[in-house]
Amino acid sequence: MRATDSAPWWRSAVIYQIYIRSFADGNGDGVGDIAGIRSRLPYLRDLGVDAVWITPWYPSPMVDAGYDVADYTGIEPAFGTIADAEAFIAEAHDHGLRVILDIVPNHSSDRHAWFEAALAAGPGSPERDRYVFRPGKGEHGELPPNDWRAAFGGGAWTRVPDGEWYLHLFAEAQPDLNWENTEVRRDFEKILAFWFDRGVDGFRIDVAHGLIKQEGLPDAGESVDVLEPTKREDHPHWDRDGVHEIFREWRRVADRYEGDRAFVAEAWVSGPARLARYVRPGELQTAFNFDFLRAPWDAARLREVIDRSLDALGAVGAPATWVLSNHDVVRHVTRYGRPHTEGHGPRADTSEPLDLALGVRRARAAALLMLALPGGAYVYQGEELGLAEVEDIPEESLQDPVWERSGHTSRGRDGCRVPLPWSGDAPPYGFSPDGVTTWLPQPASWTGLTAEAEAADPDSMLALYRAALRVRREHPALGEGTLRWHETPEGVLLFSRTPGFACAVNLSGAPYPLPAHHEVLLASGPLEGGALPHDTAVWLAVDD
Ligand code: GLC
Repeated sequence: MRATDSAPWWRSAVIYQIYIRSFADGNGDGVGDIAGIRSRLPYLRDLGVDAVWITPWYPSPMVDAGYDVADYTGIEPAFGTIADAEAFIAEAHDHGLRVILDIVPNHSSDRHAWFEAALAAGPGSPERDRYVFRPGKGEHGELPPNDWRAAFGGGAWTRVPDGEWYLHLFAEAQPDLNWENTEVRRDFEKILAFWFDRGVDGFRIDVAHGLIKQEGLPDAGESVDVLEPTKREDHPHWDRDGVHEIFREWRRVADRYEGDRAFVAEAWVSGPARLARYVRPGELQTAFNFDFLRAPWDAARLREVIDRSLDALGAVGAPATWVLSNHDVVRHVTRYGRPHTEGHGPRADTSEPLDLALGVRRARAAALLMLALPGGAYVYQGEELGLAEVEDIPEESLQDPVWERSGHTSRGRDGCRVPLPWSGDAPPYGFSPDGVTTWLPQPASWTGLTAEAEAADPDSMLALYRAALRVRREHPALGEGTLRWHETPEGVLLFSRTPGFACAVNLSGAPYPLPAHHEVLLASGPLEGGALPHDTAVWLAVDD
């Protein structure tokens, strides 16, 4: 986002994802918290991002690291208090940072008062209608109501003592809410208003594509991972048309407030055309572009994703967003260091050989590509330090429910959620006070990757992100707008943006002689004379 922009901030913002449990620990219990975030606001300001998205900070039994919410208008005691949250929002604003919260509407925790009341009230009650309860199949109702699978492994139904079954598309402790129920809808509108009243600038909508289930709950006939969207457009519980009516209502709530409050949808759908439906006029403003994250490190595939995204989103007047990593996928330094660079999910093949130096080199180039594209972008905490996936967390330390629910066949997502290294040369690296054990163990190899070490190194990933975000803020061609592709040899991406900017990325094996330019604004690695080496990107000042 540029200071001179008159367009709403969310059309071009760079949003930093704070995974609260692993950002910074202010109270010394080994888990990140609001006090920790407040202490690091100057770091975020200096990094040059426009906004932060905080993963769920609500009271939670933490079966799914906070995505199992027990009270949508409270704060988890381990993270702080409502007063801490309010102070944080005000301070973030003072630093020029907007605040986006994570809202989890598809399911609550099984410890939410709504679910406890539903269990107590019994079959046929209005309390039970807030969730998706059904009688079972089979002679005695001993079989689940249909064949749906939970995204974390196992079946999607659990039976309660009175014989009914409830639906959970994720863990058993995350019962799905019934979005056909008007009270559920009204309650969530109140929850949005509760936080908008406290000054938050928007919401990231968890599993936005899951809220509506097909009437009659027919068998799905297939098992799909939430991060590997179905190719079907008539799936019984993913990306159903009915979700859009809900988001039109949410948009009306946001529009009651001043200051361009905005939403971003987490919707794993079958491609840009389906994604564009979430950001039509009168619906949500933005949605994560997971096609970019999923694309392999391949020039033609990336260009295709970029074009299809810009076309489909542009057709409905919405800006694109670009994202490389988040708390659910293998960190992109690691993805790009393996032969199959598209292996993003928790089930990525870790047996493939890993070339971390190559991964880092490509991640640097990918950052310049992402930040030069038209629209907004997301930075997942730690990617600005070049952190790799931690793939050797001891089994007894794993926390992700995927580990248990997969019968110990998938280690899950903990490897991208390890607490950040801030300073010093041994764990906890300034994340917690010395001597404290962090909730996931940090690797011994992170000494050179602390924010402190990288701030002192002009060649670090942190220095690259800071420089790129500074240029992005100042350069009139960057942020929202359009791009124009130029002809290149195979494996090279070259596009220009007006006024006077070009970005080249070399994904081929051979050096690429750069086109005529005035000045190199920024490069992801050393240039070889007038040529761009492999797996390197450059920003150039050019004539239009
Ligand atoms: C989303 C979140 C993920 C969570 C799941 C269930 O995909 O990003 O972390 O486990 O929803 O809420």
